[in-house]
Amino acid sequence: MTLRIGIAGTGGFAKLHADRLSRLEGVRVAAVLGSSKEKADAMAAAFDDARGYDSLSRLLDAERLDAFYICVPPMAHGDIERALIERGVPFLVEKPLGLDAALPKELLGLIEAKGLITSVGYHFRSKNNAERLRSLLEGRTLGMATGGWMGGMPGVPWWRRKEGSGGQFVEQTTHLVDLLRYAAGEVDEVYAAYGNRAMHLKHENVSVPDVGAVVLKLRSGAVATISNTCLLPWDAGAVHLSFFTEEGRIDWTKDELAVVGGGGRSVYTDPVDPYGLETEAFLHAVRTGDVSRIRSDYADAYRTQAVTHAANVSAETGLPAKPAY
Ligand SMILES: NC(=O)c1ccc[n+]([C@@H]2O[C@H](COP(=O)([O-])OP(=O)(O)OC[C@H]3O[C@@H](n4cnc5c(N)ncnc54)[C@H](O)[C@@H]3O)[C@@H](O)[C@H]2O)c1
Repeated sequence: MTLRIGIAGTGGFAKLHADRLSRLEGVRVAAVLGSSKEKADAMAAAFDDARGYDSLSRLLDAERLDAFYICVPPMAHGDIERALIERGVPFLVEKPLGLDAALPKELLGLIEAKGLITSVGYHFRSKNNAERLRSLLEGRTLGMATGGWMGGMPGVPWWRRKEGSGGQFVEQTTHLVDLLRYAAGEVDEVYAAYGNRAMHLKHENVSVPDVGAVVLKLRSGAVATISNTCLLPWDAGAVHLSFFTEEGRIDWTKDELAVVGGGGRSVYTDPVDPYGLETEAFLHAVRTGDVSRIRSDYADAYRTQAVTHAANVSAETGLPAKPAY
């Protein structure tokens, strides 16, 4: 059976997913939802027989779809998910789930009531090294973890506004929070400090902080710190997470895992395409109902969202905050 897929969004990540989908046997990109008909038509034109729409209800009335990919910015979530849940269309949604935790919590309730298949684009979980990291930590006592998403400021206008993206910790650094949860367990409390150093002076309409540091207390008793900045030039970035145990240090980057200590150093590279694996797991679930290969579903991703939102609350109030699980 050929799966017919709808996609919301016409930007970089909608195209990344659509390109992979269009190369798969037994899968067709059938419909594209854009913020304008022109944008939707322009993207749909790249795929045989795909049609563009600027209205989700018209799209869903006209097309029989097996699954949907939601690739819109954080501020645009809500109506799309509600309509898909109501019609029982399984979806893969790009992270983050929204600007804060309230809307995702409401949507999670609707998803669970319907028993809908979902997947969320926390693609680092689909790399082999996420599994390796998790099993290495299972056999060790984690003392602490440190990490950072240190980079430049994305060019898209929505990213620079708090009410567009939720800020860097919610929009970007969420990947590291999610990997920390996946490898080392739940986070019970966070304490955050953010600052505005340079980017609001350099660019117009910047309301997101450009530096931040967050302390995370894990349920296990371990402590983590994750920092982020978006004020670097693009060629100076670094994204990393390190885990410290009595047996030694484990350094994660998206490309490799280094296990250091006890006189040894092992490095594991990880050249797999995580987006392809994420899609393969999701479509397998859509075809068979077997969700066991999906590494991040909406319920799990909600817990990551609750942590990143708690960091924003803490930075605003100056007090520690607990994720609203
Ligand atoms: N998993 C990852 O590593 C990763 C990487 C990049 C982006 N993303 C996520 O993907 C999402 C999209 O990011 P992007 O880089 O493609 O952004 P983008 O700005 O390139 O594209 C966003 C698109 O959404 C469209 N849009 C906005 N509101 C819409 C609506 N209500 N209906 C339909 N279309 C709408 C815009 O017109 C635009 O085409 C973001 O949530 C982002 O965090 C994930």
